[in-house]
Amino acid sequence: MKVLYTREQLQQWRDDVEASGSPTAAVMTMGALHAGHGELVRVAKEQLPDDGELIVTIFVNPLQFGANEDLDKYPRTVESDLALVKSLGATAAFVPTEDVMYPNGRPATIVDPGPLGKLLEGQARPEHFAGVLTVVAKFLNLLGVDAAYFGEKDYQQLTLIKQMVNDLDLPVRIEPVPTVRDPDGLAMSSRNRYLSAAARQRALAIPAAIQAGRQAAATGANAQEIEHVAMACLEAVPDDSEVAAIPVDIQYVVVRGTDLGEPPKRGEARLILTVVVDGTRLLDNARVDLSAAAGKEPG
Ligand code: PAF
Repeated sequence: MKVLYTREQLQQWRDDVEASGSPTAAVMTMGALHAGHGELVRVAKEQLPDDGELIVTIFVNPLQFGANEDLDKYPRTVESDLALVKSLGATAAFVPTEDVMYPNGRPATIVDPGPLGKLLEGQARPEHFAGVLTVVAKFLNLLGVDAAYFGEKDYQQLTLIKQMVNDLDLPVRIEPVPTVRDPDGLAMSSRNRYLSAAARQRALAIPAAIQAGRQAAATGANAQEIEHVAMACLEAVPDDSEVAAIPVDIQYVVVRGTDLGEPPKRGEARLILTVVVDGTRLLDNARVDLSAAAGKEPG
């Protein structure tokens, strides 16, 4: 696996790949890699032909951190990240510094995510998605890949990236990859490492809420009822007093259309929620099927 640090090295990689005519794919990360990222690499690799080139980027993007969010505390584990993606078959890694990505400092031109960027995560993190879309647009331009893989775990991010690619006619295919969960059901996230044992126990209400929402949908609940069932799961006070003492702040629990618009009366929708557990912001979501609810409606 080639490890590239500069724009010149990246350009050389692009020239070599173009000369070989190999199809290309990218997985973008901020490092601190876990099995969820591993799955992005695995799926990308699986979908590429044998001669395909898979590049992984590792860059903690300052633009997507708010003033009150501690950029310096973000875990940095580059050596083990490189070992992981190499073991999974990535053929190149691009690990730029801030100066390489933003040679003129903070860019004057920023991608505006539009109204969808102000909802849900955008309410608590107003600058976040503009920072994400700006760095993703830059990476797409710098890498010139045929496809880029993003996790469904960050469903709003994935939706906004698809929107940007569509709105701006960027010549790349965006491929979603299903969420990976630990055996206890918690969706994998770099932030899970901040949870104490008791906080993690409390956080298990999140996959339980997702599961309960999906089950309610299967038995005919409508969007509002699904939200209610999931909320009740999150609010249930655990038996264990140490777990019950963990502070929990439910940010939102919503059922939306797959494009984050109003949920449809019938068909596929998304149950999306965010809960801050003991100071750690945890996101989760899953597909819910509203067909059973529609079937119950009169007329
Ligand atoms: O999902 C992430 O890790 C980041 O938001 C991304 C897409 C790599 C942009 O910095």
